Amino acid sequence: MRRFMTTTAIAVLMGITTGVPAHAQDQGVEVLHWWTSGGEAAALQVLKDGLFNDQAINWEDMPVAGGGGGDAMTVLRARVTAGNPPTAVQMLGFDILDWAQQGTLGNLNDVASAQGWDAVVPTALQQFSKYEGNWIAAPVNVHSTNWLWINKAALDAAGGAEPTNWEEFVALLEAFKAQGITPLAHGGQAWQEATIFDGVVLSLGNDFYKAAFIDLDPAALGGEQMKEAFDRMTTLRTFVDDNFSGRDWNLASAMVINGEAGVQIMGDWAKGEFIKAGKVPGTDFVCMRFPGTQGSVTFNSDQFAMFNVSEERRVSQMAMAAAIMDPAFQSAFNVVKGSAPARTDVSDEAFDACGKKAIADLAAANTAGTLFGSMAQGHAQPAAIKNALYDVVTRHFNGELSSEDAVTELVAAVAAVQ
Ligand code: GAL
Repeated sequence: MRRFMTTTAIAVLMGITTGVPAHAQDQGVEVLHWWTSGGEAAALQVLKDGLFNDQAINWEDMPVAGGGGGDAMTVLRARVTAGNPPTAVQMLGFDILDWAQQGTLGNLNDVASAQGWDAVVPTALQQFSKYEGNWIAAPVNVHSTNWLWINKAALDAAGGAEPTNWEEFVALLEAFKAQGITPLAHGGQAWQEATIFDGVVLSLGNDFYKAAFIDLDPAALGGEQMKEAFDRMTTLRTFVDDNFSGRDWNLASAMVINGEAGVQIMGDWAKGEFIKAGKVPGTDFVCMRFPGTQGSVTFNSDQFAMFNVSEERRVSQMAMAAAIMDPAFQSAFNVVKGSAPARTDVSDEAFDACGKKAIADLAAANTAGTLFGSMAQGHAQPAAIKNALYDVVTRHFNGELSSEDAVTELVAAVAAVQ
């Protein structure tokens, strides 16, 4: 990989604008994140290596396991409350804006203008990377949630055809069941159920997804289509194994990788697990959009929000921000992570077939106006509303609510926190 913008260059840049001396280069960065699975750790290593090998910036690792980052955000709150925020924090969507609003984030404008971020970061991401016109976070990727990850041998044994709609998908799950494998690999955690729900709701129409999750239209949240969405969740629930409760998402991915299960409905971080296990798209596994959602994308972007830290640490912090936005890094990192680059000018050449598809789908959805923030991944609504939605979806999935009751509760839960 070519060298990132050097620390010295950053220090000079910072020195010009903040008076930070150029010798303040070895403060290191403390990074809070939830990338603890095999594929995630491999991707993170690309960033650590880039910073340490190229610039001798020390990396103080602060991992907090838990997909979707719920636990990481709890730890973060304690750190900020104690007056000791980490240098950089992996963060999603509305959470970034929430911290910015509280005045806790630093200002990345100098690095952003030196590297021309405005011109290359998609507008859909900038809405979360900037607050009141100032850059506050560096986006490292674009993931999306409306994907299926299918074991290729199991698909072939079921006739080999990719399901194009809900009925064909259910038929495929039935075929997996007949093969004696777990049809649907799932981990019973609220955020994972919400991730499935993204795809299910989107499969009932772009307008419906937007009305329900972006606009919070009570008619969409409480209507017949939402009942249909919950009925589809009930159907999916019949295809998971008995031990699904509490299972981590990467263990569900492993079930598909090992041929114990047919398919996982998960964001494209799942691809990182397949790649880490040496699996090849098209040979060992198949990636496709949740049936009925090709052409639309429910996205989320991992960004590193930069907190207000000491002047000395700020040099390393800015070097990290610059390293993240380096085009060569964006390619190298996202090839391993399973995501698309957070810049529009990075070639898809180094990416496998699923990565190329992710990049092409993202661009197409952006042009068509069918690119939507993921509800499950904090890109549709702020945390309070997201958590209210999670609660109803997970209670329904676990059999505590009928579809009728879930629809009623959904409207009430959203209204209560709005
Ligand atoms: C998401 C995050 C992904 C992936 C996933 C599972 O919230 O955006 O990068 O790591 O959690 O941990």
